[in-house]
Amino acid sequence: MKRKAIFLICFLCISTVVKAADNPVIKISTDNVDLIYKVGGNGRLYQSYLGKHLSHAPDMAYLPTGTEAYVTHGMKDYFEPAIHLLHNDGNPSLLLKYAGHTESQVSPGVKETVITLQDDKYPVTVKMYYVAYSKENLIKTHTEISHREKKPVTLYKYASSMLHLNRERYILTEFSGDWGSEVRTKDVPLEFGKKIVDTKLGSRANMFVSPFFQLSLDGAACENNGEVIAGTVGWTGNFAFVFEVDNDHGLRVISGINPNASEYRLKPDEVFRTPDFYFTYSFNGKGQASRNFHDWARKYQVKDGDKDRMTLLNNWEATHFNFNQEKLVELMDDAVALGVDMFLLDDGWFANKYPRSSATQGLGDWEVTAGKLPDGIGFLTETAKSKGIKFGLWIEPEMVSPKSVLYQKHKDWVIHLPNRDEYYFRSQMVLDLCNPEVQDFVFGIVDNLMSQNPDIAFFKWDCNSPITNIYSTYLKDKQSHLYIDYVRGLYNVLERVKSKYPDLPMMLCSGGGGRSDYEALRYFTEFWPSDNTDPIERLFIQWGYSQIFPAKTMCAHVTSWNRKTSIKFRTDVAMMGKLGFDIKLDDMNEKEKQYCSEAVKNYNRLKPVILEGDMYRLVSPYGNNHTSTMYVGKDNSRGVVFAFDIHPRYAEKTLPVRLQGLDANKTYRVMEINLMPGAASSLPANGKLFSGEFLMTVGIPLFTTQQLHSRVVEIIAAE
Ligand code: DGJ
Repeated sequence: MKRKAIFLICFLCISTVVKAADNPVIKISTDNVDLIYKVGGNGRLYQSYLGKHLSHAPDMAYLPTGTEAYVTHGMKDYFEPAIHLLHNDGNPSLLLKYAGHTESQVSPGVKETVITLQDDKYPVTVKMYYVAYSKENLIKTHTEISHREKKPVTLYKYASSMLHLNRERYILTEFSGDWGSEVRTKDVPLEFGKKIVDTKLGSRANMFVSPFFQLSLDGAACENNGEVIAGTVGWTGNFAFVFEVDNDHGLRVISGINPNASEYRLKPDEVFRTPDFYFTYSFNGKGQASRNFHDWARKYQVKDGDKDRMTLLNNWEATHFNFNQEKLVELMDDAVALGVDMFLLDDGWFANKYPRSSATQGLGDWEVTAGKLPDGIGFLTETAKSKGIKFGLWIEPEMVSPKSVLYQKHKDWVIHLPNRDEYYFRSQMVLDLCNPEVQDFVFGIVDNLMSQNPDIAFFKWDCNSPITNIYSTYLKDKQSHLYIDYVRGLYNVLERVKSKYPDLPMMLCSGGGGRSDYEALRYFTEFWPSDNTDPIERLFIQWGYSQIFPAKTMCAHVTSWNRKTSIKFRTDVAMMGKLGFDIKLDDMNEKEKQYCSEAVKNYNRLKPVILEGDMYRLVSPYGNNHTSTMYVGKDNSRGVVFAFDIHPRYAEKTLPVRLQGLDANKTYRVMEINLMPGAASSLPANGKLFSGEFLMTVGIPLFTTQQLHSRVVEIIAAE
């Protein structure tokens, strides 16, 4: 109530100020960054400035008017517009004028600004929303488009955000790849013309390219130096970033839903809300930009961002579809021996007419396979409980196998082209979440499982197919709404799950890193970055995702991929994220088992550092034979450094690694942990005391010339 009253007072004050001012200047500020808009003499809104915080109010007058903030199609601009729509009378142009703005303090350190733009010839309104997070130096923005014409208008383009930059050089870092090789980082200089980073996968954003970027200004930013903007869009479907350098070497960055094949007929008074675009601006390199995102995500965005995460044992890599009740109970015993919190049962537990014994059938028929698990899920949750661990379950509720009862009964619920042969991705198809009946069915899968088995403590929600055979029976003549309405339908379902089961943690999975975006993460506590769990590849993959996502959200499992690497190496890599195991303990010898359970204990002790602390990427795996990443607790009293020798050369000279994030004036003891039972540390600094200054300025030798060698080193402030 109180907050609402303050908001109203704020709102009224600002509206009055705005009316009084001729050419308002609108400042959207965080502690270090300003985004400044000015209203021109023609009544239109211009982005005047984006950069380091400016603290002297009189200086604002000297800023140039700038570039039109939200460029419209059909007027005097020859480059990519932010919005393009068609009016009832066939006129395709839009001219937006400033109509007012409001500012409100949402909570301490969080301020919202809403700027309203209107066309003076047509009743079309665009509202631009900005939420500025002061301490995290992050801005969240979206637009709302509405109109009061007699009939629907057609939206062809509808950006969430348009940013303008005016610098000497622009270097884009993109994160592209494929299944199993996600987020490979590449720097691309931007010259005249357009560079588009987008996807058309429908049910997910990522697989070929992640929905985030870094943009270095003037020169390529490093970890600790350089100006860089990092941005990402919260949309679990087709997204697009357009980077266009114009004739004047100005750069516009347009972010939002990919408008490809997605014209939207907007009814009068309907509000088209674009997804959120989030960006941070760092003047100290990419490391700071990542830490800004991590802090913000844990505090404001990710489901249960401030809560603990469970370690687990998953059966997928250990058994694939080949398991029965007895085998699962044995694996639960493995989970207990490892000391993890939960056993997670993966794919293969459901369907009877077409039992899910392979990836070719059964999706959609969500009843337990009686022959395989005669005592049902209830027996498994009970058994887990009796062993003192939690039980989690895999589902893929948006999908259907052509060999399933659901498909036979409800073909109208399946996205498919009525008059063509079907084609499949992983032998399956996508259910039509545009249809509210299908939304009910998908929600019902979780709801039924939870009602029948209230002890299910976790879901792994998978999504292994992009939208194929693109046609919705439900949408009839509005087929171009499919991509948008599918994602909105998914959010409706997830919202229902979240409000009925607010304390249920869920992993977002999609045959790898297909679904890693911050809107989905409002409903999920963590995501599966890649099916590729080869620890060497994971060093690169985790490096890539860590640019935007905190360790707490990134599931990292110890598996049998790449047996050339030791169990220690694999576990040390997985400890840099949210630790899990996906392996049979039979595959390990006694020492390895003992090592793993000690590592779980260390991990539990270090969770406040790894999951809640600040991450510093010390040595990149790109272009090096070694890599190192470190985490420091928020009070600087404890850190943990992970160092890996990948493929060092013969007689290679290794340099000391300079640590970061410590208190220069504190004394720290350096202790190697995660040693194999009986092994002594060969780390020269082991057990010694150093000042934070020394550790950060001179550094300590961490790397060796051994192939596939790893070290975990704890840094503990001396009392
Ligand atoms: C793809 C996931 O990424 C795997 O972890 C596993 O859950 C399989 N799907 C199961 O089909």
